[in-house]
Amino acid sequence: MGQQWDAQGYDAQFSFVTAYGDVLLGLLDAQPGERVLDIGCGTGHQAAVIAAAGAEVVGVDSDAAMLELARSEHPAVRFVHADAQDAAALHAAVGASPVDAVLSNAALHWMPEQDAVVAGIAAVLRPGGRLVVEMGGAGNVARNAEAIRAGRAAVGLDADVPLPWTFPTPGEQASRLERHGFVVRTLALIDRPTPLADGVTTSGWARMFGASLVADVPDSERDTFDAAVDAHAVQLGLDRRPDGAGGWWADYVRLRFTAALA
Ligand code: BEZ
Repeated sequence: MGQQWDAQGYDAQFSFVTAYGDVLLGLLDAQPGERVLDIGCGTGHQAAVIAAAGAEVVGVDSDAAMLELARSEHPAVRFVHADAQDAAALHAAVGASPVDAVLSNAALHWMPEQDAVVAGIAAVLRPGGRLVVEMGGAGNVARNAEAIRAGRAAVGLDADVPLPWTFPTPGEQASRLERHGFVVRTLALIDRPTPLADGVTTSGWARMFGASLVADVPDSERDTFDAAVDAHAVQLGLDRRPDGAGGWWADYVRLRFTAALA
């Protein structure tokens, strides 16, 4: 993952990522004694819940700041620095014996090498072992991305930059899983308009989740950029939640799937 994270800000202002991920814990249904790998564990909340269920869990993440916070908040859980696109690193993280289950919440879309990730998971999972994932799917954050492009154009930067995320379609993901030996149990693309915390607008979302798209905005242009992002976001309706409750939101589309290794 190329993104550098503000781990404290992530927990303080974007705790919805963790909260929404709790649904995956129900799908995983970790049992005492099982071995579980949490890919892209972030600040470690889901790994800690799995450990509390009596499973032996290892959380891996490629961001040092996230891992530091995870270790300080959940000292009893094992967290390892690893890029899940690197099969050898995943293998080293879990050790010699395969795991019973792999969980990942809101992480896989940061990894351009999607086939390498699924191959690496298949290599560390036991036959019959389960995979439970939620990630961004096709169409995810399309409006947020459009607003960021408008902000870049407003300060004279290239608006047509590649986005740092990969959002597969359900068909692409099902084929990928099957190519790597998985049987898909459930797979759904789910619209999830997601409220932002009070005081957070689309430009704030962009700073946290699109850092690479904001990094080359000069400090002297930051206010202009933020204003243009938010003005465009208003045109796209991102300041008015679709459920009528009011407030800013992001147009998340989740790809949620469960699969078992054949
Ligand atoms: C997501 O969880 O879908 C996501 C988060 C940040 C940037 C892009 C997508």
